Amino acid sequence: MAKIIVPMGAPGAGKGTQARLLQERLGLPQISTGDMLRAMAKAQTPLAEEVRPVLASGKLVSDDLMVQIVEERTSRDDCRDGYVLDGFPRTTVQAEMLERLVVKQGHEIIAILVDVPFELLERRATGRRNCPVCNEIYNVYFKPPRIEGRCDKHPDAELVRRADDNAETIKKRLETYEHDTQPLLDYYESSRRLIVVDGTREPETIYADIEKTVMGDR
Ligand code: AP5
Ligand code: MG
Repeated sequence: MAKIIVPMGAPGAGKGTQARLLQERLGLPQISTGDMLRAMAKAQTPLAEEVRPVLASGKLVSDDLMVQIVEERTSRDDCRDGYVLDGFPRTTVQAEMLERLVVKQGHEIIAILVDVPFELLERRATGRRNCPVCNEIYNVYFKPPRIEGRCDKHPDAELVRRADDNAETIKKRLETYEHDTQPLLDYYESSRRLIVVDGTREPETIYADIEKTVMGDR
């Protein structure tokens, strides 16, 4: 049975970093709801006007919109053999929708908590920089690019800082996470679908644990 791998964890825990490694090494598409929303927010459309302030506030975009986006994206051909769902579900309503989707698609869920204490998260988020071309994730403290401010793969592209990676919004994102998303961990734990990995180690070490779980269980 194909797997839906769901990296979970607080803002800056390393969900995207691990999701990208899973995509690169196992060929499972990374479906990042945050990346999709940020791309959407750049357009000049009524929807972009709606999404932009929500991203900037650190609150959540409506369940209705998220469910629609995820349903559409995961129904594409590249998701047939499984996928990595990075940033969804974040609420009970989204988790319930995912259960229905899993049944419809004939997949099963494996949730992976990248566990990082709150005090480490701020540096991860404030130090983060992204490539505007390929979305590669860097960090000025922990994973600097070869040339300062430039993507290793796209040296013409200047790395950007996410609009929500400022101290005030990070605080709000953490609160939103604690209130809306953390309770989902119990939900996956109680149905024995949660794996916890220590997210304070090197990304490659964390990835090795995750890959072992995913492959061993396939
Ligand atoms: P989203 O983009 O999902 O943001 P997030 O959950 O806040 O998570 P981040 O992307 O900040 O962190 P990450 O865990 O991916 O960490 P990363 O790997 O980059 O969502 C953004 C917004 O979109 C939300 O606030 C909400 O408004 C909206 N949204 C998205 N999905 C939604 C949904 N389903 N429903 C409603 N609204 C939704 O790593 C962070 C940094 O740390 C990087 O610099 C990285 O290089 C570094 N790093 C990573 N791993 C390590 C390590 N092991 N050691 C040292 N450094 C590391
Ligand atoms: Mg991310």
